[in-house]
Amino acid sequence: MRLYVNIDHVATIREARRTDEPDPVRAAVLVELAGADGITVHLREDRRHIQDRDVRLLAETCRTVLNLEVAAEEEVVSVATEISPFQVTLVPERREEVTTEGGLDLASPQVRERVARAVERLRDAGIRVSLFIDPSSEVVEASVELGVEAVEFHTGEYANAQTPEERERELERLRAASVLAVESGLAAHAGHGLTYENVAPVAAIPQLEELNIGHAIISRSVLVGMDRAVREMRQAMDRGRREPHR
Ligand code: PXP
Repeated sequence: MRLYVNIDHVATIREARRTDEPDPVRAAVLVELAGADGITVHLREDRRHIQDRDVRLLAETCRTVLNLEVAAEEEVVSVATEISPFQVTLVPERREEVTTEGGLDLASPQVRERVARAVERLRDAGIRVSLFIDPSSEVVEASVELGVEAVEFHTGEYANAQTPEERERELERLRAASVLAVESGLAAHAGHGLTYENVAPVAAIPQLEELNIGHAIISRSVLVGMDRAVREMRQAMDRGRREPHR
């Protein structure tokens, strides 16, 4: 199972002072040296954390792979096609949100149309495309029709579950959606709200091949350093894979 580390919040600290440190490009080097399989950044339309300069430099300097998250909007999709990262993950985006709040609403004809246009442009540029979606069969089927290579399941509902029953229900949705995705020929990824404490049951889902984790790792890195923060997440994932969670 691959671990892609989302380093947006290194840039959040930098932007708190609109200065040049800490530099996410330097952070990416440490993340890679600690054994992560990829670097993820979200170029938001309001550029609240990651800047165009970061994405350009990361595309040049990453020794693993760069997974660029963008909304299905002309301007940021253009940046993606220019930079040509290994993978683009299309995400929904609302200006007023603190973080991404859910998967792409592919039941909406307008959203689906916008996503279809973005997918076409990215695929024409030879970029692998993943869609950030909720773990439901309808949205997996819609993603298959859009002709993408992968889907990333939103684990936010699982992470926010208040009771063991709710948590188990969300895990079951993730398991069923992962099986359907793989049976339909899509690669299955997951992420959002995953922590050292809650990652194991998600890592145990055998169909999932990639996790995108940001806030928990960057937060821990402030206290223990990036190397240890990444390695400890890797260990938590590996423990999850080894232990049965059913
Ligand atoms: N996956 C996607 C599509 C996201 O938008 C984010 C947050 O930017 C993450 C994963 C990582 O979420 P977290 O920071 O909660 O680990």
